[in-house]
Amino acid sequence: MCGIVGYIGQDDTKEILLNGLEKLEYRGYDSAGIATLNDQGVHLFKVKGRIAALRESVDNSIHATMGIGQTRWATHGVPSKENAHPHQSASGRFTLVHNGVIENYQDLKAEYLRDIHFASDTDTEVIVQLIEKLFTEINDTAEAFRKAMSQLKGSYAIAMIDREDHDTLYVAKNKSPLLVGLGDGFNVVASDAMATLNLTNQYLEIHDQEIVLVRRNYVEIQDLNGQIIHREAFVAQIDASDIEKGTYPHFMLKEIDEQPFVMRKIINEYQTEDNQLKLDKNVREAMNNCDRIYIIAAGTSYHAGLVGKEFIEKLAKIPVEVHIASEFSYNMPLLSDKPLFIFISQSGETADSRAVLVKIKEMGYPTLTITNVPGSTLSREADYTLNLYAGPEIAVASTKAYTAQIAVLAILAVDTAKTKGFSIDFDPMQELAIAANAMEVLTAQKDTIEELTRKYLDTTRNAFFIGRSTDYHVCMEGALKLKEISYIQAEGFAGGELKHGTIALIEEGTPVIALATQENVNYAIRGNVQEVVARGASDMVISMKGLEQDTDAFVIPRVHELLTPLVSVVPLQLLAYYAALHRGCDVDKPRNLAKSVTVE
Ligand code: G6P
Repeated sequence: MCGIVGYIGQDDTKEILLNGLEKLEYRGYDSAGIATLNDQGVHLFKVKGRIAALRESVDNSIHATMGIGQTRWATHGVPSKENAHPHQSASGRFTLVHNGVIENYQDLKAEYLRDIHFASDTDTEVIVQLIEKLFTEINDTAEAFRKAMSQLKGSYAIAMIDREDHDTLYVAKNKSPLLVGLGDGFNVVASDAMATLNLTNQYLEIHDQEIVLVRRNYVEIQDLNGQIIHREAFVAQIDASDIEKGTYPHFMLKEIDEQPFVMRKIINEYQTEDNQLKLDKNVREAMNNCDRIYIIAAGTSYHAGLVGKEFIEKLAKIPVEVHIASEFSYNMPLLSDKPLFIFISQSGETADSRAVLVKIKEMGYPTLTITNVPGSTLSREADYTLNLYAGPEIAVASTKAYTAQIAVLAILAVDTAKTKGFSIDFDPMQELAIAANAMEVLTAQKDTIEELTRKYLDTTRNAFFIGRSTDYHVCMEGALKLKEISYIQAEGFAGGELKHGTIALIEEGTPVIALATQENVNYAIRGNVQEVVARGASDMVISMKGLEQDTDAFVIPRVHELLTPLVSVVPLQLLAYYAALHRGCDVDKPRNLAKSVTVE
């Protein structure tokens, strides 16, 4: 969600900014812009829509060696050229890009900026106008910038240029992600190292409420009082080839196919040389000492959490509650005496989850983040982190991160069970390896799934996914995949619950996709399928080997019953992929969505 790139160096900036913004497209956006600075002044280009359109609008004859750019995902004000960033102060001296939400922008406007004519509906414009207002009083850009930052409430990652200063990018951060990349004779700013990985792999973390003056040959971090802070750079552990599509038409398809490799990577990372489970001893202790676990997550990660609850309760015998992050803060349940909070987040940046983390830390409870991005905000701020090792996930629709989350949760549950001395008849590494092979079998059956998509989903307006117990949770994920990228209205339902109202929506030909991978509910779910077929539904049963019936549409290979979600989700991911493809949708960048949701 929203992405920032900035550059100051020797080379021409346009291409660097446009390339960087393209790398951030995956985060989700609806308008984009860049501003460059040279002796002729500031050159501003903005469009509603895609980077490709921005590229078209840029005047290639302008040469400049510093600039800032942003992809905007609208919060305050509609997606439009006027509301696109960068925004400028009234005199045009200051030009700024911003990610995040300024909560007190209306108060600031009323208090300081009553006489100013605003050119946009954004909260961002308030920041740049405030900086100019403060500058007219103190005549020092860095000081005005710092002062403005200390007035802001909310989340922000900011990069600014001053028309009269050709040597500095003014940068600040609070709650929204932002990094400074270090080069030889140049430096960069980016929301995500992926944007500038082609230029440098050395990065500086910026902490909340810090200001950074980024110059061509050095970078100065300050706190809001102007005190200088020293910090070592770190090396970004991303391989540039991980963020290329290669021969795949879409990142989503590539990421679906990567799932077996991710499983094997997780097995490797969480196993010692003598085949014992390898887990941070602090995580072990935290799991062992708690009396109840609260899983906090959003979207697909929430769905992985529902599966994780089953693992932990069944194997480690600790009660688990799974909560939607955005609900938890405002409607906190009664907590147990010794709670442990587990945050599950692919990106590690989801603002809703972070809001809970901040609150829980204030309350003094232990926190663990399970994330795909080491060094992300949720990872840095929680007491402990477990990595997913899935590699960068670029498609907005999460696939390999979901299965990685489930695999890591399975390992965590088994490890805790062992620490507690429970005897369990489940070797997670062996079973994960079997699941990885099964995933491989499924990813080789794309033609069959594409055919099923044609038959059931190409022309439908809606679809239902039904399942019981574990399958129900996978159905929720299958429905989310389908709706987010193909825009088919889809719901995941508990098989037995459909008849209590929702069955009224079943009409002649309504697709109902049923999962049947759990032996104890196999007959029950098949009864539910008959109920909808009797009302005209077009049923597609996806069952597991050993539980199949002749009429089933698709049979997945047999894996351990606990790990069926890893495998049954693959055909659902592929169904969503082909449904979106056949409908001409933008598979990797679905409308209205963002990959990294950094606003609450
Ligand atoms: C966004 C994405 C979803 C993702 C959710 C949670 O809505 O579009 O794909 O599941 O955020 O993200 P997280 O990074 O916390 O797992």
